[in-house]
Amino acid sequence: MNASSTILLIEDDTSAAAALRRVLANEGYEVICEARGDSGLARAQTDVFDVIITDLKLPGMNGLELVRQLHAAKPRLPIILMTAHGTTETAIEATKLGAYDYLLKPFEMEELLDLVEKAVASSRLMTEPVKMGEGISSGNAIIGNSRLMQNIYKEIGRVAAKPVTVLIRGETGTGKELIARALYQHSERNGAAFVTVNCAAIPETLLESELFGHERGAFTGAEMRRIGRFEQAHGGTLFLDEIGDMSPNTQAKLLRVLQERYIHRLGGKEAIPIDARVIAATHRDLEKALVEKQFREDLYYRLSVVVIKVPSLRQRVEDMPNLVTFFMQRYGAEFGIESPSIQPEAIQFLQAQPWPGNVRELENVVRQALLLAGKYTVSLEHVRQVMSKLGEAASTSNRSIVSGITEYLNRAKRGEMQGVHARIIEETERELFAQAIQLAHGNQAKAARWLGVSRITMREKLNHFGMHPAQNQN
Ligand SMILES: Nc1ncnc2c1ncn2[C@@H]1O[C@H](COP(=O)(O)OP(=O)(O)OP(=O)(O)O)[C@@H](O)[C@H]1O
Ligand SMILES: [Mg+2]
Repeated sequence: MNASSTILLIEDDTSAAAALRRVLANEGYEVICEARGDSGLARAQTDVFDVIITDLKLPGMNGLELVRQLHAAKPRLPIILMTAHGTTETAIEATKLGAYDYLLKPFEMEELLDLVEKAVASSRLMTEPVKMGEGISSGNAIIGNSRLMQNIYKEIGRVAAKPVTVLIRGETGTGKELIARALYQHSERNGAAFVTVNCAAIPETLLESELFGHERGAFTGAEMRRIGRFEQAHGGTLFLDEIGDMSPNTQAKLLRVLQERYIHRLGGKEAIPIDARVIAATHRDLEKALVEKQFREDLYYRLSVVVIKVPSLRQRVEDMPNLVTFFMQRYGAEFGIESPSIQPEAIQFLQAQPWPGNVRELENVVRQALLLAGKYTVSLEHVRQVMSKLGEAASTSNRSIVSGITEYLNRAKRGEMQGVHARIIEETERELFAQAIQLAHGNQAKAARWLGVSRITMREKLNHFGMHPAQNQN
């Protein structure tokens, strides 16, 4: 997936540069090196890069000045600053000036790769346009001509340019994130940063610091100041994804920021003015959360002023043929299948399904059916086979590990089963590897890194479990 990502590495130490370049190239990034601050800046302004990685101490211009100038010229380009210990304050300064993040030397290569991956993703979110409507065959697009989707496009057009907070609601997999990006891209702030925070992915205790930052000593473990996402999004847009998963305490603080337009870093006295446009999204039933006191009423009303309600796939069955064609073209190109096709009966069958996972689920089914059919026309049989396989996988993985353990132990107690340990380990591992490889889009090196196993182990396990992921990278 990262085959076409290009990184500009600005580092004057030739051996360090060579080592970094090797590691990055190994992951499929294209790396261009510059050894001076001024030449790095010039290069970054003329050529197109996904991410910049720069050293702090450089001949020609130091990293901090480079961050300042580059961020002013290209506010959407993520810059990662590498800095030696003892210059932490400078690094923090850099995030205030607009750097994406910093790395304290010495760092692990894994740390660097994780950060680069996030930065590339963030850069793509900002720069890859989200098209809307019909006749689109490639790139990021919101597909659908149904009346319900036409209304969504109108809504996007109506509110994108207004500086209002927007709440995007809809079931899982309906395209809320795509809509958030479309709103950003059609706003007056489309030249500035689009900062994303997934509130469900960050533990409650860390979310406030992620959002608002903290001062040194604000809590145990807060060894240095941190600039939060609100500050980083100053002048730009902050996308609060899965806002329904935020704890009521944090909700109260968020409400204050939305009303008063300044933040306090945790443990800080200073009121820092913030000009960030907030877009929020959730798949949660907020009305139910209100009753259960999981969502604050005041924040609910504040966010409900402008709501975009995304329809489920079931509500727009007529869009399915277009969606299927779009995904066939997308994955056909990825798998090297020329003019992929599908039988009309297969499409009708797809239209009759309930799709609890909405477009995401449909996309997955089309992708797998295409893999199964290869260069042949996707048939009803292919689609049926994929759906029943996925259905089985979902029913086993829905059963939690804990309940699996309980069940097996009880069976063993009744003398109906042996080797519980080996079976639980096997099933858990199968699930773990299957999910990792899927999330990594078939990139084994990446999945291995996430799991903390060697690539050899990765390969062995995949063989063992009979998984042959599509290598859709490169
Ligand atoms: N209308 C659409 N046209 C094309 N692709 C779509 C559409 N809606 C969703 N998708 C695709 O489906 C997948 C899920 O979309 P997205 O991440 O935006 O959903 P979401 O509503 O944010 O889901 P969740 O609530 O689970 O976070 C993505 O791969 C996206 O590209
Ligand atoms: Mg989402």
